Amino acid sequence: MNETLLGVPVPRIDGPQKVTGTACYAADTRLPGMLYAVQVSSAIACGQVAAIDTQAAERAPGVRAVLTHDNAPRLPCRQQDPPPPVDPSTGHYHCPLQDARIRYPGQPLAVVIADTPPQAEHAATLVHITYAAEPPVLGLLEHLDQAKAAPDMDDVVRGDEGALERAERCIDQVYTIAPEHHNALEPHATVAVWDGDNLTLYDKSQWVNNVRRHVALAFGIGEECIRVISPFVGGAFGSALRAWPHVLLAAMAARVVGQPVKLALNREQLFAAIGHRPHTRQRVALGAGSDGRLAALVHEGWAETSVFEDYSEPLLQASRRLYACPNVITRYRLVELNINTPTPMRAPGQISGQYALECAMDELAYELGIDPVELRRRNHAEADPDSGKPWSSKSLLECYRVGAERIGWDRRTPQPRQMQNGRWLIGLGMASAMYHSERAPSQARAELHADGTARVQVAASDMGPGTYTALAQIAAATLELPLAQITVEIGDTNFPAAPVHGGSLTLASVGPAVQEACRALREQAQTLAAEQRLNSSDYGAIVRRLGRAVLAAEAGAKPGAAAKHYAMSAFGAHFVEVRVDPELGQIRVARIVSALAAGRILNLQTARSQALGGMVGGIGMALCEAGERDLRSGRVINPNLAEYLVPTCADVGELEPVFIPEHDPHVNPLGTKGLAELPICGVAAAIANAVFHATGQRSRDLPLRPAL
Ligand code: MOS
Repeated sequence: MNETLLGVPVPRIDGPQKVTGTACYAADTRLPGMLYAVQVSSAIACGQVAAIDTQAAERAPGVRAVLTHDNAPRLPCRQQDPPPPVDPSTGHYHCPLQDARIRYPGQPLAVVIADTPPQAEHAATLVHITYAAEPPVLGLLEHLDQAKAAPDMDDVVRGDEGALERAERCIDQVYTIAPEHHNALEPHATVAVWDGDNLTLYDKSQWVNNVRRHVALAFGIGEECIRVISPFVGGAFGSALRAWPHVLLAAMAARVVGQPVKLALNREQLFAAIGHRPHTRQRVALGAGSDGRLAALVHEGWAETSVFEDYSEPLLQASRRLYACPNVITRYRLVELNINTPTPMRAPGQISGQYALECAMDELAYELGIDPVELRRRNHAEADPDSGKPWSSKSLLECYRVGAERIGWDRRTPQPRQMQNGRWLIGLGMASAMYHSERAPSQARAELHADGTARVQVAASDMGPGTYTALAQIAAATLELPLAQITVEIGDTNFPAAPVHGGSLTLASVGPAVQEACRALREQAQTLAAEQRLNSSDYGAIVRRLGRAVLAAEAGAKPGAAAKHYAMSAFGAHFVEVRVDPELGQIRVARIVSALAAGRILNLQTARSQALGGMVGGIGMALCEAGERDLRSGRVINPNLAEYLVPTCADVGELEPVFIPEHDPHVNPLGTKGLAELPICGVAAAIANAVFHATGQRSRDLPLRPAL
């Protein structure tokens, strides 16, 4: 093992392809005879299609077919049983064009297939739909009285239910977070091509194996008949975990016209078609002694879901795991609305729950007159309060120490609205962060070629974090080859199966499988070299002597027994300095220091990029992002990047991620906890807490509006 390739900054091996435009994303796929499909979406949230007139569209230039529920192929639309972990555990996914029912705004009601994209776009405008509208159920806060228990989220009571009433001091507040929408640079697209009964899909996907399973069941065909290819993903953040209806539409369209079909969603359609972070309302009540030790924690969450699936997420998990508190109650409730089903979006649930919890901790700190960092230290959980297991490793106290030192926490005044710089009000705020470290089984294949190079193949995705590069580093280290001699091929169901590229588990899951495959390959090469009396490090000569083109090995890795004995999580602490204009209330994030402890960091350069992305995402959540819905039609009224705000460079101050060295022998053979989602957890709370410190005004609703 050549350890010098691990734990150093390595530029992306796929960088040149990305910056020269040769990386082929789903929508870049061009096939001979390819036609273009455009989805026609529902303008209303609830009701029936009374009539759909496609005559004008069919007569438009270049149009090959128009599919609606009247003429689309009937599909079996079977469901995985049990559903994959990325799908809601109850309900049925929306199978497009199977009936006249309208369940959510933006639901596909027709698809137009034409020779060119402009022809298809034009014809799509000519499809005339007559609606039989019904009153929709819209608005989470307007329908709290209809909340129901989430089927897969039991109420949890730990300790004494009456502890809050008896606590010496307490705070009890309500926090809301607007719906947020994935806005990756790359829009979703699918190219479908049938060859007899075999289907190939070029798709934007975080899990090609799951898309294959889903489409096989929806169409009632064998998985072996389907190949899903997704070598590059231009950002996804959770929107490409499931196979959304447009993937089925593309396959359906290609089947009907008997030619390859590309279906690309436009930016506006993305706001309805690929899920979103659900609108949430949370109540957090904290009871404590005057020494600051938590005596009671009550966290109740209300989240929206669709009328056809119950989507839930780990909103309340941090409240059961982040601090030592003997008496904890968590309750999760869902409100069914006429919206598309929400879906994971970067640290799903965790980020929303930690926003409320970490703001509440800040409020408690002021209530008690205890420094916010000190309050968290006093409630540090030495073992996982939820399971009672020891942590496999935990460096949260070190994160507090390093983060506080770097931001200059000791200059912070205990009282709010006491710090100024010129006319600006200055505030310092902080928050803890945690993200569970998980691992799933993966396979991988490694090959040695006659020219001495090596190749790794696995179905895994790389939506941007640097999977290509990290896997190349692991292969190079294990085979003891220079990095330049390794190629990595991913995102294809023809390669050994990988788990979902989500939940921050890719490196922890796929990395060890690549390591195992390379080890097996190396042993094979060494045995052959000994037999042939060759130099065991001259792989090319060994392959050539065998008279073969390649020497290959496939291996797998799966979670060991360690998870039975240890709780595993990455931790961090964010420290933020904001400045607020005292007259306009304008909030600027001047600086964020994020101390992150996520086990071993394999690639300091791509890890730093991920941390920066998380911090910027946190600024977006705190100050910018909100899907504004019209409560009559349910439609998002700001479905574009001019009105759905994401941070620009001018909105982002100085960002300083700091990786806390951490050795974890239990979490997986590589010792990496998975960084990914940790850096965004807690950022919005740290910003909100800094804004309170600057202004003395507490706003509990995200995104924060100008603070006066
Ligand atoms: Mo991430 S929300 O697990 O893609």
